[in-house]
Amino acid sequence: MSTVSLKGRDLLSLADLTTEEVQALLELAADLKAGRTKIRCDKVLGLVFQKASTRTRVSFSVAMYQLGGQVIDLNVSSTQVGRGEPTIDTARVLDRYLDIVAIRTFEQKEIETFAHYAKIPVINALTDWEHPCQVLADLLTVQEEFGSFDGLTLTYVGDGNNMAHSLILGCALVGMNIRVATPPDYQPHPALVAQAKAIACDRTEILITDDPHLAAKGSHVIYTDVWASMGQEELATSRVPVFQPYQVNDALLSHADPQAIVLHCLPAHREEEITDAVIEGPQSRVWDEAENRLHAQKALLAMILGGEVSSS
Ligand code: CP
Ligand code: NVA
Repeated sequence: MSTVSLKGRDLLSLADLTTEEVQALLELAADLKAGRTKIRCDKVLGLVFQKASTRTRVSFSVAMYQLGGQVIDLNVSSTQVGRGEPTIDTARVLDRYLDIVAIRTFEQKEIETFAHYAKIPVINALTDWEHPCQVLADLLTVQEEFGSFDGLTLTYVGDGNNMAHSLILGCALVGMNIRVATPPDYQPHPALVAQAKAIACDRTEILITDDPHLAAKGSHVIYTDVWASMGQEELATSRVPVFQPYQVNDALLSHADPQAIVLHCLPAHREEEITDAVIEGPQSRVWDEAENRLHAQKALLAMILGGEVSSS
């Protein structure tokens, strides 16, 4: 097992990690998944979620239980968070009870404020800006399929949202080329792209375009996400005609490498951003990808919290 540790650290953005740390985390996740390594860690994780979640909530909970720890699901509607208790107060109180907290909220600034006032590690379980835990699982899925990231290209097609942001950073960190195709008014934030380019240092291609076919050409991973994220539901219908040319369907997939795989963070809106035929087709790896949330987050929790390691 690698000696790289994230002891006591926050994960607010994928850019909080180095290449070496991501590689160590993926290695540990693969070992945990294969049963080569077991870790005992009897700590308490709090989940403070201001948006809906199936995968993140359940995979974090199961990961913590399998490590021997416990989870408190702090549903905002049954805590004072839902009645507007200030973040700076909630953070300082939860800090006194919990060992670690995963937060799903709207603004990135909110989670940064929480982390500033809480001494315990804070994990970003999705904000409007990023979804780093999802991308750790995505990278694990790509590594399982291809063995390494060398020479690979990932193409993200759709909205330049939190998923696009974390994928750009994740690819920059592991040295996988990334192309992002979005409608012109929906590109990822230029500051995020500049940050990723600084991480990639010209070793990795980062292409932002409005041409989905150009982006998909010869690519090894085709990735998409919903056209309207949580909190943007009222915009969903008006966005459909704008995003229709960016649908992941058989025609788009025909531009990719013949061995290409298809990923989607889920939940999916079938026949909008991805067709039923593609998500159920032979190139789809979305169920392995969803499973890998569990393994990647178990590795993340273990690297942050530490624990008693046994390897076989
Ligand atoms: N992909 C993902 O984060 O799913 P949930 O919203 O169900 O947690
Ligand atoms: N972009 C989506 C991701 C859901 C996992 C959202 O924020 O709703």
